[in-house]
Amino acid sequence: MPHATFQHKTTWWKEGIVYQVYPASFKDSNGDGIGDIPGIISKLDYIRDIGVDIIWVSPHFKSPQVDMGYDISDFEDIHEPYGTLEDCERLIRETHKRGMKIIFDLVINHTSDQHSWFLESRSSKDNPKRDWYFWRAPKFDEHGNRCRPNNWRSQFTKPAWTWDPLTEEYYLHVYASGQPDLNWENEECRRAIYESAIRFWLKRGVDGFRIDTVNKYSKVPGLPDAPITEPQEATQVAVCRYTNGPRIHEYLKEIKDILSGFDVMTVGELPNTPDSNEVLQYISARSGELNMVLNFDTVNLGQTPGNRFLPQPFDNLDFKNQLTKWQTLPAETDAWTTVFLENHDQGRSISRFASDLPAYRQSAAKMLATILATMTGTLFLYQGQEIGMVNAPESWSPDEYKCVRSVNYFRDICARSRNNSGSIEQARRNLQRVARDHARVPMQWDATHNAGFCDEDVQPWMSVLDVHREINVADQINTKGSVLSYWRSILALRKNYASLFVYGSFVAIEQERNLMSFLKIDERTGAKSLIVANLSRETLQFTHPDGFASEETQFLIGTHSNDAEPEWQQQVLAPFEARVYIQQG
Ligand code: GLC
Ligand code: CA
Repeated sequence: MPHATFQHKTTWWKEGIVYQVYPASFKDSNGDGIGDIPGIISKLDYIRDIGVDIIWVSPHFKSPQVDMGYDISDFEDIHEPYGTLEDCERLIRETHKRGMKIIFDLVINHTSDQHSWFLESRSSKDNPKRDWYFWRAPKFDEHGNRCRPNNWRSQFTKPAWTWDPLTEEYYLHVYASGQPDLNWENEECRRAIYESAIRFWLKRGVDGFRIDTVNKYSKVPGLPDAPITEPQEATQVAVCRYTNGPRIHEYLKEIKDILSGFDVMTVGELPNTPDSNEVLQYISARSGELNMVLNFDTVNLGQTPGNRFLPQPFDNLDFKNQLTKWQTLPAETDAWTTVFLENHDQGRSISRFASDLPAYRQSAAKMLATILATMTGTLFLYQGQEIGMVNAPESWSPDEYKCVRSVNYFRDICARSRNNSGSIEQARRNLQRVARDHARVPMQWDATHNAGFCDEDVQPWMSVLDVHREINVADQINTKGSVLSYWRSILALRKNYASLFVYGSFVAIEQERNLMSFLKIDERTGAKSLIVANLSRETLQFTHPDGFASEETQFLIGTHSNDAEPEWQQQVLAPFEARVYIQQG
């Protein structure tokens, strides 16, 4: 493959390190057990000191919280327990004061069923906003039984349609029934979205958006049935009917036009799109629709498409292949890429891709940090990742899980199996593996009863993990060798060597399954870096590739040793050890 055909300009949103905050679980400031905006403000110095440049806040808008704020009932107001509009404006100001940028979540595939638009739409068939959502008359079978308009399954509930007795029609929801899909075909509706969800916040100084589920606004016209892949089921996985539809790029170009007058960034969440030609339509610099996207290839490992909780085996080879799948994009095309392993929809990366056993988890956290911080593209961290937070334990009972997806899944298994204990046990194990809840437990600030997330006599909205006594910010912040210190050091190096790590070309080096190894090359200066990481619990040998065995090779950073110690010269890696070598150009 030819290299460096496109010269990527340096930009703040390419080299900026993004840190995602989940408002409900970050920091409670007023003793109600729910995180809030003043809580976030109180931790801005902490975030900055990690080396973060851009904060992404998950939805903090007014919402009945069916899906933790991804069901918005007013784009122009704040969820009351999180604070006020003034608090939010202060958050923007205080972030800027510290030299950081701030982006918000733009959730515009659907609204809450409590949004005034939907309440109006629902009120009568001839309401002017009726067409802003997908309303359809029922079908009837040969016995005269009422049936849904098509066979689509939603992501969170079984059918994607809910019956509304008021006007005797169904409405469509690709997610929960409290999240009716907006009808983007309706131009007036689109204009209202742009005004309320986008311009309102641009005027208030937000630096861009993480765009929720960016490829679902255009559905296949006529909403045809999905192909039958599970004949025994009443509904079918319908992703192909509502993803990357025919008008999606037209809509995104409209959004691009609105944003073009501002120095803002966009990152789209792009599920179910493994094909690079399709991805490029969203992010090529020529099309200019989005600056970059978050691909799902790595975080979907271990999950069955269309059925998240059904386990799929995978190994370290799959992990390496998926994690590096988009690494050569910037060298080969005019598009930019992203790097991440965690967000609010995924279990913790140490638990999923390495080991969260006490003997290994520190090394595992640093090893994954080493890989991520040396990869090409914009780097996204999720709160708690910087201290090596892990999944909730196996001992957690199913009622600890609060996420709508987890709750619906567990309820469905109990109902179908008529409370069969084997099925219930299996479902519990599946939740422990891949539930979204693992990312949503309170942030672990210290070793006190509620981990410093809220006052000790308050019941937090989700249980604090017991392991917070061993994994918390207070213990790590001034401790040499802690996971947090390691992240700070390696992020500083990433910035120092931005043309190598952020912008440099990526070249994978074939190694055995459990060894991840790659080169980064600064095409301008010729500087090179070699990264080696042991993804396993075994001790591994590796060999320096040509040119890296020489005297000019320096040791830059490693999980286990420093350049004052002789180990770095030996080509042996301890379990979950990783190292970075460098050769100046
Ligand atoms: C995205 C969000 C997720 C949410 C869904 C529906 O996938 O990341 O949390 O449930 O969209 O808005
Ligand atoms: Ca609070």
